[in-house]
Amino acid sequence: MITDYSERLIIQEVSPRDGLQIEPVWVETVDKIKLINELSLAGFSRIEAGSFVSPKAIPALRDGEEVFQGITRRAGVIYVALIPNLKGAQRAIEAEADELNLVLSASQSHNQANMRMTREQSLSAFGDVVSLAGDSSIRLNGTVATTFGCPFEGRIEEDVVMRLVEAYLELGMQGVTLADTTGMANPRQVYRIVQRVLDRLPASALTLHFHNTRGLGLSNVLAAYEAGARRFDASLGGLGGCPFAPGASGNICTEDLVNLCDEMGIETGIDLPHLLAMSRTLPSLLGHEMPGQVVKAGRNGDLHPLPFGSVR
Ligand code: COA
Ligand code: ZN
Repeated sequence: MITDYSERLIIQEVSPRDGLQIEPVWVETVDKIKLINELSLAGFSRIEAGSFVSPKAIPALRDGEEVFQGITRRAGVIYVALIPNLKGAQRAIEAEADELNLVLSASQSHNQANMRMTREQSLSAFGDVVSLAGDSSIRLNGTVATTFGCPFEGRIEEDVVMRLVEAYLELGMQGVTLADTTGMANPRQVYRIVQRVLDRLPASALTLHFHNTRGLGLSNVLAAYEAGARRFDASLGGLGGCPFAPGASGNICTEDLVNLCDEMGIETGIDLPHLLAMSRTLPSLLGHEMPGQVVKAGRNGDLHPLPFGSVR
């Protein structure tokens, strides 16, 4: 198949949720709001702005209500909230999230570690969420975490993933995300699974969520794009990780992904200089260096002066 690189790649920015959930320092509500407002101006059409989970499980995001109430909503931007159960859905709807991202894991053991439920209990709770959402305009997306591998169980059978995708479709979800929670995916596997899932869903309903834990994040994006996927999660600075998955580390880095797309001529609609300026503010906010690379190296086109005395 010859890939048409003129098709836009849509990035959902997840740093306010996946990025901050694992950070040990408390980020003030006002700083979370500022981050989301800046992201809204950088060109994203979708921002995962927080989660409504147990504050004991994820203390870093316990201020979800204040964050959603405090942000300046930009027309055309969908503000997503991650939820694990009915209580999370009630809180997110009350806080006027535009979309609920319901999460369960393909692996039974990671679902237990992360959600303290079996997959079946998660799906049953999601049935209640669908009833609650009813005829409202709120959108629903279902995530299958550990799709490409689990830190407790290793390889996950593709048929298990497909059954969960089917379950989400039966529940009436508008979108499905396949998540590589601890960066275990490889491009060949990604290509195969994306092709399989795109037999069941249009590309506009499928999102890929990669972590760069083993350095394969952007390779996996390209493999997914070449298999027909067009929507990807990414996180400013390469922040991110699931606190209930041993060895988890950052999401693919948004500015590195946008740089890749800019270089290849794949349109994203995201303003890279704006993103890089934002990324430079993260170390002082969070107290450590970021894994992202383009912010350190500069864009390909950022040329350097010749050393003194050299002749070009
Ligand atoms: N928001 C806020 N509080 C919640 C909640 C939610 N969505 N769901 C449950 N709670 C509260 C309950 O009200 C109860 O409070 P209480 O102790 O004051 O009575 C307490 O949490 C325990 O409730 P229970 O239903 O027994 O939950 P649990 O302890 O078995 O935990 C989850 C289950 C799903 C709530 C929890 O594991 C969780 O939030 N996981 C999400 C982890 C996460 O975000 N991972 C990264 C993203 S994938
Ligand atoms: Zn993640």
